[in-house]
Amino acid sequence: MEVFIDTANTEQIKKYYELGIVDGVTTNPSLIAKEDKPFKKIIEEIVSIVDGPISVEATEEKAEGIIKQGEEYSKINKNIVIKVAINEEGLKAIKELSKKGIKTNCTLIFSANQALLAAKAGASYVSIFVGRLDDAGNNGMNVIRETMEIFKMYKIESKLISASIRNPIHVIESAKAGADVATIPFNVLDKMIKHPLTDKGIQKFLDDWKKVK
Ligand code: E4P
Repeated sequence: MEVFIDTANTEQIKKYYELGIVDGVTTNPSLIAKEDKPFKKIIEEIVSIVDGPISVEATEEKAEGIIKQGEEYSKINKNIVIKVAINEEGLKAIKELSKKGIKTNCTLIFSANQALLAAKAGASYVSIFVGRLDDAGNNGMNVIRETMEIFKMYKIESKLISASIRNPIHVIESAKAGADVATIPFNVLDKMIKHPLTDKGIQKFLDDWKKVK
């Protein structure tokens, strides 16, 4: 399973990319808004750090506007993937962008049906929001499993991104379900790296090493 980092914070991206554990980046308007920098500068910085897919969200509502933004952003770098929210305008835009050879990540997906239609329209990635489904009292992981089952059965080429990850269990369950990608916030990556027994073990080995003659 590929690991993307779900942030627009370039310090976080740099830190985890340097560890060799990050294959790509996903951003969204809310993540961009948290950073005190102009949008284009953030994207240019991310592109200079990461050599892998970088999702940048289109913010226009009509297909024509989404396509225009998609064309503009995709010129920044070959790794840019245009994030498009699923609705009728979004599907239309995904179809056109895919015809132009521009990669898309269909976002804000909450059901296997939406994922199936995004794939039909030509989305390179479909992002299912596990955490938000759980928050709303649904079982997000069931949607990942159901979608993977359908994608495997029909050999659908769109890659499934398990998104809106809230904890390390979401990551393990996504991997077990066969998700192509998990896009993970830095605090969850941090929890995945650390274990109290590892810290305790390292300290013990260091202490014992001092006693070696
Ligand atoms: C996905 O690409 C989104 O950026 C993200 O995973 C949304 O997560 P949230 O529900 O924590 O906002």
